[in-house]
Parts: sequence; C-alpha cells; structure tokens
Amino acid sequence: MILKDAFAEGIRKLKLSNIDAPVVTAGAILCYILGRERTFLYSHDEYLLSNDEYENYCECLKRVAEGEPLQYITGVQEFMSLNFNVCRKVLIPRQDTEILVESVLEYAGQKENASILDIGTGSGCVAISLAYYGKNTQVMGVDISKGALEVARINARNCGVEENTVFVQSNLFDNVPPKKFDIIVSNPPYIPIEVIETLDKQVKDFEPKIALDGGADGLDFYRRITQQSVSFLESKGLLAFEVGFDQAQKVVEIMEVNFENIKVKKDLAGIERVVTGNLSK
Ligand SMILES: C[S@@+](CC[C@H](N)C(=O)[O-])C[C@H]1O[C@@H](n2cnc3c(N)ncnc32)[C@H](O)[C@@H]1O
Repeated sequence: MILKDAFAEGIRKLKLSNIDAPVVTAGAILCYILGRERTFLYSHDEYLLSNDEYENYCECLKRVAEGEPLQYITGVQEFMSLNFNVCRKVLIPRQDTEILVESVLEYAGQKENASILDIGTGSGCVAISLAYYGKNTQVMGVDISKGALEVARINARNCGVEENTVFVQSNLFDNVPPKKFDIIVSNPPYIPIEVIETLDKQVKDFEPKIALDGGADGLDFYRRITQQSVSFLESKGLLAFEVGFDQAQKVVEIMEVNFENIKVKKDLAGIERVVTGNLSK
C-alpha cells in the first residue's frame, strides 16, 4: 500500500474508534514505523510500504484503537524540550508537570549547587529536567518501583545528566540518607482511590496504578511527605508539590503547620496546579 492510502486508512480506523486527534496520531504512528520526520508523509506520499511496515502499522493502529497511549507504543514523550523514554513501568510525563519544574527552577536559579530530592521520580522527568537546567544542581530521585528507576537511569544517561543525578529505590524517605536538601519536590500519586476506575481507559488500564493511587481522599502522600520533609530540608528549604485540580487549598492547609511563604501556581488551563512553601524553621 502507498503511504497516502495507509495514512487515510489509519485516520479512518482511529476515527471509528473515537480516538482523539486521529490525523496527528495516525501520522505519528507512520513516522515511528518508518523512522521518518512528519514532512516525509507529505513529501513522499507515493512511497510504497513494505509488507512488514504495513503489518506493523496495522498492529500499532489496533493497539491505539484499544486505548493504549501512543507514547507506550513509540516509547518516547517530550518533556521540558527533552526526550524521555517511557514504558508501562512509568507514568507518561504530563505538560502540567512542567509548571512544577519551572517553579523549582525559578527558586533554584538563585542558588548554585542546589541539592534536590524528587519523591516518586517515575521516568525521572522532574529530577532530570532540574539537573539539566539547574546550575550544577545535584538531584536524588527516589521511587518505590524498581522498574521505574531503571527507566529513570536510562533517561538520565540519554539526557547527559548521569553525573548530577542518583536514583534510589525507597518507600518515600525510608532509604534516603540522613542529610538536608535545599529543595524537596514531588508529583506524588494523588487520585482518590474511588476515582481511579472513572478515569480514561488510557490512564486506568495502561498507566501504573501505583503512580495514581493517592489513598481514600487522594491526599495521603501530601500528608506523609510534608511531615517527613521537615527532617530532610535545610532551614527555610523549599517543598514543592504538583496537586490535583481541586487539591491546592487542602494541600496549603496540610503545609501550613510547618511551612511559610506558601504559594499556589496555576497551569495553562488556569487550574491551581503547584503548591510551594518554605520550611518555617
Ligand atoms: C504521579 S507519578 C509521578 C512520576 C514522575 N515524577 C512524573 O511527574 O511524571 C508518582 C510516582 O510515585 C511513585 N510512588 C508511589 N508510591 C511511592 C512510595 N511509597 N514511595 C516512593 N515512590 C512512590 C510511583 O511509582 C510513581 O512513579
């Protein structure tokens, strides 16, 4: 089959399965299969796909039509203009989380050699971006998932920040060495357990549950991390969280006990997305 017909067939199949952005998605699958840039789809629309390429394309279309996120098929997601490897062991980095990274960079930009702890590092997107854009920043990323840490280490190497990052398997702070950090950052699991089953198929059936489950009210990790951070932060050190769409004010209340100068930042959709504060003592 020639490229333009395969493209049209993919768009039609994805539309029938109610997949968002069928043109972009079918195009992205073709680019992935052929190892080409998007312009190739238009400049070589008479290109004849080999049998293998066509079969591979149909298989990818089927997986997407069944709800699998495209990023788990292509194995990559861009975040903070860096390319991250992703697979089903890790949450796919979200654009909203860039606000968290930018908030920390604004603060860390004033410091050289800042030491940062990223709790629940997943693909390492937050830790690695902070190491990449910070000024000689040292970042420790921890996660309870061994599989996620393997992905994070590969990403650190690919982004050239292996020297500035270390990844440790740990249930929150359990295996964090007893030292003080300038900044603790976290995008923890924050979906209330009962809400998980109501999420889009792409999320609830494919992304790791351990990356989503925030306990009965979604706030378990904010309580535990806020309380334990007190022992791991330098005086006036920064704690920065990403929060769910209706959680900012509740997280502010949790932090108010031990933190001051608490700020809430909105994402591009105007939703309160990031809460930061400095340790009071
Ligand atoms: C919402 S994901 C965030 C991943 C990544 N930081 C990001 O922003 O894309 C939460 C992460 O917390 C990890 N996690 C869950 N429970 C944990 C625990 N008790 N201790 C450490 N990490 C945990 C999950 O494995 C997952 O990678």
